[in-house]
Amino acid sequence: MEFDDVILGRRSIRGYLERPVPRALIEEVLALAVRAPSSMNTQPWHFHVITGEPLDRIRRGNTERIMAGEPDSREFRRGQPFAGIHRERQVGVAKQLFAAMSIAREDRDARHDWVLRGFRQFDAPVCVIVTYDRELADSDDTAFDCGAVTTALVNAAWSRGLGCVINSQGIMQSPVVREHVGIPDDQVIMKAVALGWPDPDFPANAVVPERKSVVEAARFVGFAD
Ligand SMILES: Cc1cc2nc3c(=O)[nH]c(=O)nc-3n(C[C@H](O)[C@H](O)[C@H](O)COP(=O)(O)O)c2cc1C
Repeated sequence: MEFDDVILGRRSIRGYLERPVPRALIEEVLALAVRAPSSMNTQPWHFHVITGEPLDRIRRGNTERIMAGEPDSREFRRGQPFAGIHRERQVGVAKQLFAAMSIAREDRDARHDWVLRGFRQFDAPVCVIVTYDRELADSDDTAFDCGAVTTALVNAAWSRGLGCVINSQGIMQSPVVREHVGIPDDQVIMKAVALGWPDPDFPANAVVPERKSVVEAARFVGFAD
């Protein structure tokens, strides 16, 4: 696949085929991802790649806690709720997804089911938990580096025909993840990445959220043209 095809074709995948992903293929994808740059080449990231029964235990644990009304217990700072243009973009992608899935605004049950789907890692056959070294936790470079490697991961996966969705839902109940994955205390849980073969018939997989234009995003300083 050409680079442009990967970048322009990739989108978040929230519906997967019930088909296992070979470990060797995931290793190939990770070998590409770890070529990502990092601050002073510190490479603060770790990947915990989960499938089968341990992943099912996480899905069950997440679902039970959400249904019991447990508040979020994520380790990676969340910040304030989105406002203004950022809130508009958040609502925009939700509207696109709900429209694709034919979920009506007033259908609270269907919306709740959709949210639970996220907490089940979208029923993907694989989930990658991205963590970083706790001793680097007070540097913003660490989050930057892990973002870079995770973006490289989803693009590398796409180049091999695999789909992913980076998500916070999978790590919102971090104690569940910590328990069932056995994450060492010297690592902080950052993000989850659901991974698997995209289901071509799952409507939300066709959604392409809008991007702000280069004109809106960039300023050019000192150019003659
Ligand atoms: C840090 C981060 C957290 C995200 N969390 C979620 C999530 O919890 N649930 C979800 O469905 N998508 C999640 N996403 C996916 C975004 O909604 C998606 O990347 C964005 O709308 C752009 O769409 P695209 O990936 O299809 O290009 C997350 C993405 C990132 C980078």
